[in-house]
Amino acid sequence: MNRAPLFEALIQHTKKSKWSFHVPGHKSGQIFEKNAFSFFQSVLPLDVTELTGLDDLHHPEGAIQEAQELLGSLYKVKNSYFLVGGSTSGNLAMILASFGHGDVVLVQRNCHKSVLNGLELSGAYPVFLSPEMDVEGGFPLGVNVDTVEKALEVHLDIKGIILTNPTYYGMQQDIQEISDIVHRKGGVVLVDEAHGAHFGLKEMPKSAIHKGADIVVQSAHKTLPALTMGAFLHVNSDRIDKYRLSHALQMIQSSSPSYLIMASLDLSRMYMEKLTAHELGTIAHQSERFRMDIDNLECLQTVKTPKGYVLDPLKVTVQTDRDISGYELQHMFEEEGLFSELADERNVLFILPLGMMDDLTQLKEVFSKISYKLSLYKIRKTYSKPLLLFPSVSTLSVSYNDMKKMSVKELSIQKADGFIAAEAIIPYPPGIPLIAKGEKITSACICHYFFLKEKGARFQGVNELEEMYVFDIR
Ligand SMILES: Cc1ncc(COP(=O)(O)O)c(C=O)c1O
Repeated sequence: MNRAPLFEALIQHTKKSKWSFHVPGHKSGQIFEKNAFSFFQSVLPLDVTELTGLDDLHHPEGAIQEAQELLGSLYKVKNSYFLVGGSTSGNLAMILASFGHGDVVLVQRNCHKSVLNGLELSGAYPVFLSPEMDVEGGFPLGVNVDTVEKALEVHLDIKGIILTNPTYYGMQQDIQEISDIVHRKGGVVLVDEAHGAHFGLKEMPKSAIHKGADIVVQSAHKTLPALTMGAFLHVNSDRIDKYRLSHALQMIQSSSPSYLIMASLDLSRMYMEKLTAHELGTIAHQSERFRMDIDNLECLQTVKTPKGYVLDPLKVTVQTDRDISGYELQHMFEEEGLFSELADERNVLFILPLGMMDDLTQLKEVFSKISYKLSLYKIRKTYSKPLLLFPSVSTLSVSYNDMKKMSVKELSIQKADGFIAAEAIIPYPPGIPLIAKGEKITSACICHYFFLKEKGARFQGVNELEEMYVFDIR
């Protein structure tokens, strides 16, 4: 289907429109800062508002409705929605649509902060499930079925589960068994698939949509050619209340959603539909080739996929056996003009394009040069710190409702052991809280914070004086 109804409607509009006497204030580009105009010129006429013929995201019955229907039929779901506030808005909306005050919800602990914010807004009672850890990569994976069952022995009456799958590093687990267990308990399965908008295409992993999820959120902007903040939300079953969902989306998203973002979502869907089996085969092949070339270098290697997981071909996680951190390694690449997605204390993560890479020779040269530079460093004996492990099943120390009544103070993180966090501490990226709001701060967490800080991590939730917000009780 080579159609992009929303994009086409915008083009029609630009042909008809002679005068713009409506928002936005740049008036289709007539008023704009001169020095920057040449950069924005071509897209400003498409940055419009809910004009005749351009439909309304919050009440779609024209071009947006058609574009969303095409999206839904590509992913084979009941309904699909465009999101203009990223997966962040999708996570908030799906949680508000599914859970209310006091509802017990199983939550994979290594979730994005938007999941925790959604839980707080809904007033639900999260039961955290600790993920498995990847020993080589040092990062969290998915939750295993035993952990889900262990939680269900204590928490009998759950309303659902929120999973994050795949992980930021592209490791995907099969969630079918977990979905079946939760459905048997009468719960709903919510999946944050922010990193898997391209899943379901040939050569790519299957989407959670086809593994039992009732509702799935995807950041189109992360792996598809969509503008930043563009995302999708897919509803896959009657367990999701459509009224509550559309109300939540209206509460959370702007009443002036960006037509540029929405058109880019429409075009991303068309881009996926046009990808041929041959092109997708080549994309998978070039990813394999890229990994092999790295593994052939002396001082760099890719992190292998653990048993039971499927790797997203677009994600390549690289480590070195030399005694430097992932952050320092990332910096070495940046000095060569190669900017990666993220670094952590061990790894650097590269996201490959969902498209053909023309000439890999130059890229190979950069990797070889870095490998040579690394050879001048000592070999690392072992990773200096063990992984931070959470209890396999845990809850908040204070309910979201009680937190509203408690006063808060700023405290040096060094003195915070035993206090309850009033704000999450989040290494960013990846945006997965080290300490969630409402969790008791332990000395192990504090040590881990300083360990990551020393290695070069950046944090949200701690100020430059190394103070954080805690509740004013012990
Ligand atoms: C797992 C996960 N979920 C949700 C988000 C939020 O996505 P967005 O940036 O599209 O709002 C992120 C962002 O990195 C993420 O990694």
